[in-house]
Amino acid sequence: KILIVDFGSQFTQLIARRIREFGVFSEIVSHKKINVTKIIKENISGIILSGGPLNVYQNDKFKFDKKILKVGLPILGICFGHQILSKELGGRVKKSKHREFGLATINKISNSVLTKNFFNQKNISNVWMSHADQVSKMPKNFKVIASTKNSKLTIIENSKNNFYGVQFHPEVTHTKKGKILLRNFLFLICKVKKNWSSKDQKLKLIKDIREQVGNNKVICGLSGGVDSSVVAQLLSKAIGKKLICIFVNNGLLRKNEEKQVVNTFKKKLKINLIYVNAEKEFINKLIKVSDPEKKRKIIGNLFIKIFERYAKKIKNVKFLAQGTLYPDLIESKSVTGSQTSKIKSHHNVGGLPKKMKLKLVEPLKFLFKDEVRKLGLELNLSKDIISRHPFPGPGLAIRMPGIITYEKIKILKEADFYFIKALKEYGLYHKIWQAYAALLPVKTVGVMGDNRTYEHICLLRAITSEDGMTADFFDFPRGFMQLISNQIINNIRGINRVVYDVTSKPPSTIELE
Ligand code: XMP
Repeated sequence: KILIVDFGSQFTQLIARRIREFGVFSEIVSHKKINVTKIIKENISGIILSGGPLNVYQNDKFKFDKKILKVGLPILGICFGHQILSKELGGRVKKSKHREFGLATINKISNSVLTKNFFNQKNISNVWMSHADQVSKMPKNFKVIASTKNSKLTIIENSKNNFYGVQFHPEVTHTKKGKILLRNFLFLICKVKKNWSSKDQKLKLIKDIREQVGNNKVICGLSGGVDSSVVAQLLSKAIGKKLICIFVNNGLLRKNEEKQVVNTFKKKLKINLIYVNAEKEFINKLIKVSDPEKKRKIIGNLFIKIFERYAKKIKNVKFLAQGTLYPDLIESKSVTGSQTSKIKSHHNVGGLPKKMKLKLVEPLKFLFKDEVRKLGLELNLSKDIISRHPFPGPGLAIRMPGIITYEKIKILKEADFYFIKALKEYGLYHKIWQAYAALLPVKTVGVMGDNRTYEHICLLRAITSEDGMTADFFDFPRGFMQLISNQIINNIRGINRVVYDVTSKPPSTIELE
């Protein structure tokens, strides 16, 4: 197996998932828990040091057992892992003059087994960076494999000891040939054999659910999105009638969403579904709140309160099932106990109350969106459900920065409706990973029918991604942008300007809050 040492990167689980895709087993351990004796005893073929938010000179904040460099195993350091490997072997790291975030082009300097088939014919490769520090002095016995304009030591190696360092993130999909580099590390350098298959994943998850819940009943928060639908279907296979789904209308859903969900799940799929209209309860708690984290916590708490209220009415309910995915966990808090930075409290993780009466069942918590979609197919869910764009639990609340009002919700529901409808009509919906309209908390001046207007700005966001961890903005044809801008302004009172968000993730996130 491959050992991944986690220094708190947003992407550590993505490394594990890539390895999983190659049919190889891997284990993530926190940097605080590296046990060199155990490493020697276990059948480990190679070690990957993850990225992380720290600086290599913040020695008091992390642990690095130098003995790991002496066990004779191949090591690949990624981003922070590259910097710590370099520093520990006698190199130096400093703050970069030019921070690099997003896409960067790297140039090949010399050959390496690690980069076999990684560069194009012009000897360049496009990679995804997210760093402020860089290796400024190479350790002894290393050589440079690739550089960017701003950082000379982008890929370095000591092929005799099988030590490799890369400043970018080969595990994210936006590093075009990142998989090739990781595959080279696994199969050419660590010489691992394929030993893990995803074929039994569904059965294993079902077995785990049965073991966890025993004879108790489970309520499942169903939103109609991909994740909760897959969870509901998994649980239905695992425990049958002991599953009760609850759909809460929090007033922050897309236009007509509640009708569609009830229609699909209750009428078509015949799932045991309770519909709760809690619009007023949610909005009254949120009205006048503008802090993004407060909004998320209020919503997360209220969801649970409502689930608990309904659970009380049914005998023997001990569990609450949620469609939490790995990216929700990693952005909300640290998973392995390493030092991950909190980016935002996903409503179903960091937004949960401290004390909960129901225990959580989260069968998807180590999976990514596209893996969940594949699982959904295995569970015979319809393509319609599986290919829906993700929609966050806090819904429109986090798509209107600033205070929430009934009027803003009404305007935003309409804008979003026109945007999504046009995407479907013009065959763009399935080319995009996620798209939505947002309402910015500023008004600007316009002129309509010779009159002055002073109204909201509608921001449109559409991104491409594979797993939501990194993303790029979608390239719309000019004609479509013109059309949607006209449709929104002509049909909705309260908006006189439409803008398009052209940032990637990182540095932005997909949602605005
Ligand atoms: P960000 O904004 O963190 O979003 O780049 C990544 C993905 O997660 C979704 N998201 C959420 N989903 N509860 C959810 O169920 C939440 O609190 C939440 N916050 C973000 C977001 O829509 C995107 O698909």
